[in-house]
Amino acid sequence: MTVEEAILSRRSIRRFQNRDIEPDKLHAVLEAGRIAPSASNRQEWRYIAVKDSTRRRQLAEAARQQFFVAEAPVVLVCCADTNEHIMTCGQKCYPIDLAISIDHMTLRAVELGLGTCWIGAFDENKVKNLLSIPAAIRVVNLLPIGYPAETPSPRSRLGMAQMTCEEIWRF
Ligand SMILES: Cc1cc2nc3c(=O)[nH]c(=O)nc-3n(C[C@H](O)[C@H](O)[C@H](O)COP(=O)(O)O)c2cc1C
Repeated sequence: MTVEEAILSRRSIRRFQNRDIEPDKLHAVLEAGRIAPSASNRQEWRYIAVKDSTRRRQLAEAARQQFFVAEAPVVLVCCADTNEHIMTCGQKCYPIDLAISIDHMTLRAVELGLGTCWIGAFDENKVKNLLSIPAAIRVVNLLPIGYPAETPSPRSRLGMAQMTCEEIWRF
């Protein structure tokens, strides 16, 4: 599968088969996240692979009762060990770095026949309490991973002309 094919076929998956992920596949997904670029190579990402069904259910509850999250055999809890470093441009590094690493993983997952869904709607304090995550660590995203049990159609996107212009701001 080419990078383009992975990008084009990725969808948010919200129904998962009742089937475990092979350990080497999970490792390959995490490896894609591990080698991602980050600002000053800070690599703030820390990933907790939650497989226990009770914990997955508790995570789903902390994610506004999005119970499909618990259907996935693995929920990656995507954390940042961060000093909240600010780049010269004024942006915090860690949400950007985490997003790049997570996106690498979502695309590698597609190549391996797996589905994922970014979950940003969750109560961070509840997730931290559930998994004994220290106060200084931020939880950026939950990523359920598993074999898809649905093939969603592509969702609409802005047209090229709505998102690009040339030379100066012309939107
Ligand atoms: C940062 C982020 C947070 C998201 N949070 C949720 C979420 O909490 N629950 C959910 O079902 N989908 C969530 N999504 C998935 C988006 O709804 C989805 O990516 C978007 O509708 C486009 O659909 P597609 O991923 O299938 O292309 C999130 C996506 C991103 C990038």
